[in-house]
Amino acid sequence: MLYAENLSVNQSNHLTIGRHDAVALARRFGTPLYVLDEDRMRLNCRRYRQTLAGAYPGEGLVLYASKALCTLHTARVAAEEGLGADAVSGGEIYTLLKAGFPMEKVFFHGNNKTPEEIALAMDSGVGYFVVDNREELRRINDLAGQRGRIQPILFRVKPGVDCHTHEYIKTGQIDSKFGVALETGEALEIHREAASLPHVRVEGVHCHIGSQIFETEPFCEAVRRMTGLMAQLKSELGMDTRILNLGGGFGIPYEPGDDPPPLAHYLRSVTSVLRQETERLGLPLPQLCFEPGRALVGDAGVTLYTVGSVKTIPGVRTYVAVDGGMADNPRYILYGAKHPALVANRAGDAPEGPVTIAGKCCESGDLIAEHTPLQAVYPGDILAVLVTGAYNYSMASNYNRLPRPAMVALQGEEARLIVRRETYEDLISHDVL
Ligand code: LLP
Repeated sequence: MLYAENLSVNQSNHLTIGRHDAVALARRFGTPLYVLDEDRMRLNCRRYRQTLAGAYPGEGLVLYASKALCTLHTARVAAEEGLGADAVSGGEIYTLLKAGFPMEKVFFHGNNKTPEEIALAMDSGVGYFVVDNREELRRINDLAGQRGRIQPILFRVKPGVDCHTHEYIKTGQIDSKFGVALETGEALEIHREAASLPHVRVEGVHCHIGSQIFETEPFCEAVRRMTGLMAQLKSELGMDTRILNLGGGFGIPYEPGDDPPPLAHYLRSVTSVLRQETERLGLPLPQLCFEPGRALVGDAGVTLYTVGSVKTIPGVRTYVAVDGGMADNPRYILYGAKHPALVANRAGDAPEGPVTIAGKCCESGDLIAEHTPLQAVYPGDILAVLVTGAYNYSMASNYNRLPRPAMVALQGEEARLIVRRETYEDLISHDVL
């Protein structure tokens, strides 16, 4: 086993992903290549669902956070595994719809939904809107009114909980562009307004405190505050909220030393606080929703590259240049995120001195990793970057007019193309002369 249960080394000393030789995948499909171990994704979905069912006596629902990796195929896998979904844009909704996703299990997020997106979501039968602000609330009420219906909603609430993660992915604190604040009374006020509107019905409350979180206490604190709000909504507005959606954010290991709590521990802690608090406040157990993204697909992804050059600057460092980089994985340049890497065709060898893995974009910061131990490496080798299932393809760009890579899904013995490689023709297809 290497880093993760689904990775290993075969007799040719090649990295294997599930039952597949990574070097053979690179030869067959070309590089850069996103590889999605679909069996792993399905296992992660099942574990999440079953662990929640085991930890919570009330009704539970796991929603796949589409933003982590949104394709027709992944939407279909999530649906087949019985999950709902979180969507944050018209594009994600359209993808879910085209994949045949059960739209009544979709929660529509976003801090600035356009009228067109709201209309698309309504006409697609999206189950719930997670409303960010007053203007949006009124817009949703109007558009639902035009359709002669009552739209189920939840508000996105900032519970005022801080957590230890990268500044860019913290969202629970008062200084956040998302949602309405609890401490200032803004949350109560917007619920009051919603109660007066004829075409929306508040079904529950939502919060998301951040992403890649390793502690359970901030989630428990969020539960205390959100149940407090549910009790206040009941006593002051006579409003029954039957859904508590706690968002995503459960962290996963990226490098040795990353040690998130086991999922069961996390879910048991959160649900036991929820049971205590609802009992204390005299509330019924809500339907409990989670929106994991990274935890479902992160470790199911590996990116394969071909090494083009190895440049050693004596006394400084060695740059290993690959045929992708920040355009297919912007996580290092954005967050300094660390992804383990290994030479796929020499996977069982001991790593040697540290190297810097550089991409091919015209930008010095275009790196995948710095000072990372790596096996002996030469031009023509296949480099595997691990744990790239979440927020890689979904954040990829065409910077420097690099075509986005293909993606293959591995299921048992089968490797199937699920996103075809972009062509130069694709790149110019929107240009107008
Ligand atoms: N629900 C909501 C409302 C969210 O905003 C997010 C993530 C999730 C669920 C899923 O969070 P997860 O379980 O994946 O942590 N691009 C960044 C991550 C941004 C996350 C944004 N929201 C990265 O590459 O780390």
